[in-house]
Amino acid sequence: MASSVVLARSRLPHHIGIIMDGNGRWAQRKNQLRTQGHLEGLKTAKRIVKAASDLGIRYLTLYVFSTENWKRTAEEVGFIMGLVKQHLKGELDFYRENRIRIRHTGDPKGLPPDIARELAEAAEDTRSFEGLQVILALNYGGRDAIVRAAQRLFASVEQQEKITEEGIRHYLDNPDIPDPDLIIRTAGEHRTSNFLLWEGAYAEYYFSDILWPDWTEADLVSAIAAYQQRERRFGGGKP
Ligand code: FPP
Repeated sequence: MASSVVLARSRLPHHIGIIMDGNGRWAQRKNQLRTQGHLEGLKTAKRIVKAASDLGIRYLTLYVFSTENWKRTAEEVGFIMGLVKQHLKGELDFYRENRIRIRHTGDPKGLPPDIARELAEAAEDTRSFEGLQVILALNYGGRDAIVRAAQRLFASVEQQEKITEEGIRHYLDNPDIPDPDLIIRTAGEHRTSNFLLWEGAYAEYYFSDILWPDWTEADLVSAIAAYQQRERRFGGGKP
């Protein structure tokens, strides 16, 4: 969808995180099953990945499935996992054509083995691509990510003084990826819901009332435009 907003190319956020919320409500409003909302949500995810790639964004983290989402019904969990698998298997050409690299954050050990395998294979297949990096947060929790980083850190050092911010960062799932500049949440909720707790310490938040399945390229552009109006001080005073 065309947008009349003009973005400052030199001040694009390097890394955007998105809490894709509202699939269930979208379906409910249309008298459809929640699973239909997730199906539409997946279409939106592809649309927004393409838009981010075209805009020249470097990293996009999508909150697909949290460590808390296992509390949903077995049917819904199974449906979402099926969608992820279908997407990773069926859309590799889309990622290849756009030179997009797929990565994972979250605990692969808690995922169904076939999903963990598809993720690892997609990451391997797209490893050399230098365009947008899409990080799929699957079986991801911000607290769990910090705990897993701390476990790796404890396994690797003896002296407690090595437990520093840099030390913890080094043992996160993807230590080379810069912190998100902008975190978007759709569907009118104003919560972080355990997303990028460590990395998002100084992210700018953008909340949209629009349900995720209705999100368009123009909404992404509006979010980035709002971000470009913010004054980022990283805890420092006013200049
Ligand atoms: C939130 O809606 C969305 C989810 C729990 C995740 C589902 C996400 C997708 C299907 C997109 C997957 C994308 C890729 C690239 C694999 P909700 O069910 O919490 O909505 P509600 O709050 O309205 O109930």
